[in-house]
Amino acid sequence: MEPNLKVLLVSDDEVIHNQILNAISGSYSVQLIDTGDVVREVNRDVQDIVIFVQPESDIAVESIQYIKSISPSTLVIFIAKGYDFTQLRNITKAGATEFFVYPEEHSLFVSRFPAIFQNYEIQKIKKDEIFLSFTRGRGQILSIFSGNGGSGKSNLASALAQTIKLESTAEVILIDLNLQFGGIETLLSIQSNRSIADLTPVINELNESHIRNVSQKLDTSKLDVLISPCDAEAAEIITEEFVAKLLRTCRRSFDFVVVDLPSYINSQVVTALEESDQIFYVLTPDTPALKVLKQFEELAVRLGIELPSRTSIILNKTGKENEIQEKDLKNVLRFPIAASVRFDYKGLQPFLNKGEPVRKTAKEKRLIPFAKDVKKWALSLLK
Ligand SMILES: Nc1ncnc2c1ncn2[C@@H]1O[C@H](COP(=O)(O)OP(=O)(O)OP(=O)(O)O)[C@@H](O)[C@H]1O
Ligand SMILES: [Mg+2]
Repeated sequence: MEPNLKVLLVSDDEVIHNQILNAISGSYSVQLIDTGDVVREVNRDVQDIVIFVQPESDIAVESIQYIKSISPSTLVIFIAKGYDFTQLRNITKAGATEFFVYPEEHSLFVSRFPAIFQNYEIQKIKKDEIFLSFTRGRGQILSIFSGNGGSGKSNLASALAQTIKLESTAEVILIDLNLQFGGIETLLSIQSNRSIADLTPVINELNESHIRNVSQKLDTSKLDVLISPCDAEAAEIITEEFVAKLLRTCRRSFDFVVVDLPSYINSQVVTALEESDQIFYVLTPDTPALKVLKQFEELAVRLGIELPSRTSIILNKTGKENEIQEKDLKNVLRFPIAASVRFDYKGLQPFLNKGEPVRKTAKEKRLIPFAKDVKKWALSLLK
């Protein structure tokens, strides 16, 4: 029993609060109140942990802000009833430390709660005002890399970012780290003189509004894009520290950060790979490409880049007439195949020639095969 900490369960949902009470009320003293009583309760007494179950009406963000304004040290856990990225982001911004999506994550909640409780207790004993921030609620960095030039990285990165943006409520930014020659600006017909290099003067205090000022929003999908300076000299002032700061800041403001990388390794690319949650290695199904992949794996070991836990393969330009088929690869590859994208010259060319994004609106009916395959990949990331 831990009688010293006050746990307040705020809920109008009987099914969920019974589930929670059954799981934790044996070990912790929990007080249950309605959402309507939360203002009163937090004014009445200082609560240590508030478990806030998403109410029917739209007052969660406001209520959490209120709780944190009255008592900044209160730890708020939000119980969501679905994956709504906009809402979860707003909840995190409002001050919730942790969220769980019900009913899927009930057992995760039950298993994490003792550690959350204990951490809070340790912090409280130390009278430390700085509370542990848990890793949930931060955006994911997805890097698209390949040791082979022309394997399709830029087309895939761009289509993936557009698709995630259009198929979900997630905030997405596409970053072109081909610092010397760029590429994304041509693919998406972006005419602008603002590029990543314009962030260098503010890099030490970089925040979301700096990034939004320099990024371009696509008219159709509203995807944010940070283009490359396309300038060897400008590229030189972009250091590895710059790349790390840029990605960490983007992670705080976006749910998905899609990074298009060049086909060589330098310190900026290594930094981007190290900061990534997932690395997608683009592989075309042929022997030379497999050789390059092996070399990359060896190089990664020597450079100390951890690949196995976060790398998967995107097979690109697949087709019946290929020398190597997907089933042959399964035994050869050390990474899982996350997606397979067909060779689609006919479909892609018109978009490339016009510099148009392959995805423009949500729920598009007539997708080219390339975009269909990317959609499958994107949806697997949104699960
Ligand atoms: N699935 C596909 N079907 C048909 N053509 C494709 C496919 N994927 C990419 N391509 C074509 O391959 C070429 C190279 O693509 P892209 O520029 O995206 O590659 P990259 O890996 O970014 O190249 P680089 O190494 O130069 O940055 C382009 O002409 C593109 O249209
Ligand atoms: Mg490219």
